[in-house]
Amino acid sequence: MNNLLILINQYLTAFNNNTVMANKNQGNGRATQTPQSGTRSDRRMKPTAHSNDGQVEETDLETTSPNSLKMLFEKELKSIYNVEKQLIKALPEMAKSVSEESLKKTFRHHLEQTEMQKERLEKIFHRLRMDREDEKCLVMEAMIEEGKKLMSEFEEGPVQDAAAIISAQKIEHYEICAYGSLYELADVLGYHKIADILDRSLSEEEGTDRHLSNLGRATHDASFDLSDLEMHRQ
Ligand SMILES: [Fe+2]
Repeated sequence: MNNLLILINQYLTAFNNNTVMANKNQGNGRATQTPQSGTRSDRRMKPTAHSNDGQVEETDLETTSPNSLKMLFEKELKSIYNVEKQLIKALPEMAKSVSEESLKKTFRHHLEQTEMQKERLEKIFHRLRMDREDEKCLVMEAMIEEGKKLMSEFEEGPVQDAAAIISAQKIEHYEICAYGSLYELADVLGYHKIADILDRSLSEEEGTDRHLSNLGRATHDASFDLSDLEMHRQ
């Protein structure tokens, strides 16, 4: 039965590829669009009418060998699940440690988003019939520790806030990479609903990063003024 589903999936993939080629040959305006161009959802192959709204696609690829892409996908899911769990523990402390009210608010808001992102991953585990297991992400552990250490080296105020923003953005960039890769893997595996779910978290991480960049500009200016003042006092 699984072999039959795999064959159907391969047939539908070949059918979609042929349709794309035919559209290109007809010069219908989409011919210039390369797989790398456009938005994430533009690039994605749409679920076919036979896909039962994505549900069949999400169960028809078995983890058969250590070389399977699905196994890599699952490992990365467990890793980002651990990342979110670590961040849920770290964010309240980060919000408490900074001085600027808008930065506190940003960390608190991102905590709410992170809790939702964790729940989304749990939904994905359920869809893929996976256990809610996580795999310890040593990179995240190190980044959180590094951030705490950096902040502890400065007094409360704009410079310490700038250190918090830098540390938080390093974490956001890591998450953007992780969710971006997971999105691409979900897409190539034909898990379209799961790709949509991952896309929501990816957009939130990108939004938080942009917001931190904006806050960073103001904080860095304030830090510079403070450093300048101290230099003149010496
Ligand atoms: Fe996150």
